[in-house]
Amino acid sequence: MKASWKAGVFAGLVLPTSMMILAACGGSGDGAETAAVDADPAMVEAAEAREEGFKSLGRNFKTIKDNMDAGNAASDAALAAIDEVEVLADDLPNWFPEGSGPETGTDTEALPAIWEEPEAFQGKISDFQAAVTELGAAGESGDAAAISAAFGNVGKTCGSCHDDFREDD
Ligand code: HEC
Repeated sequence: MKASWKAGVFAGLVLPTSMMILAACGGSGDGAETAAVDADPAMVEAAEAREEGFKSLGRNFKTIKDNMDAGNAASDAALAAIDEVEVLADDLPNWFPEGSGPETGTDTEALPAIWEEPEAFQGKISDFQAAVTELGAAGESGDAAAISAAFGNVGKTCGSCHDDFREDD
């Protein structure tokens, strides 16, 4: 009894330390997880928030497309999604704090070029925002043909940024 009681206390004292060591070593021990041990938690959070932001952008963009395909380019749902894309496009420049790239050890697809070539990256953001402004104006007009045309132009700017600054799938 005494011995096992002692063993229990001993285990209780030792366990937290050994768990910390295990956590620090990471599960599979590949390079990315090792890097994550040193990563700034705020930057890990920023990378994860960015992924959520892009997922939301993707969902809203798809809503517009689905409505266009159904012949409802100016539906309430499409117009609401256009509004949402405008909000996200305004916010997008804040999604890339320095240090939130691959060094976070997350599964981010953001390429280091974003921070190495800030002017080129800013150019992609500006092209995108300009196209989204046009889409917003088309949405205001309620003109389905104008929305479809502007949607296509925004799509080109999404792809153009992905070509240079997002890891290939
Ligand atoms: C200025 C550059 C830029 C523009 C413009 C841009 N993207 Fe991206 N996008 C990225 C980068 C970089 C990533 C990778 C983010 C990451 O993994 O950290 C990404 C990731 C994504 C993802 C993947 C999210 C996930 O699940 O990980 C989707 C979906 C996406 N973008 C959709 C869009 C759509 C739709 C548009 C246009 C309406 C767009 N993007 C415009 C740079 C851009």
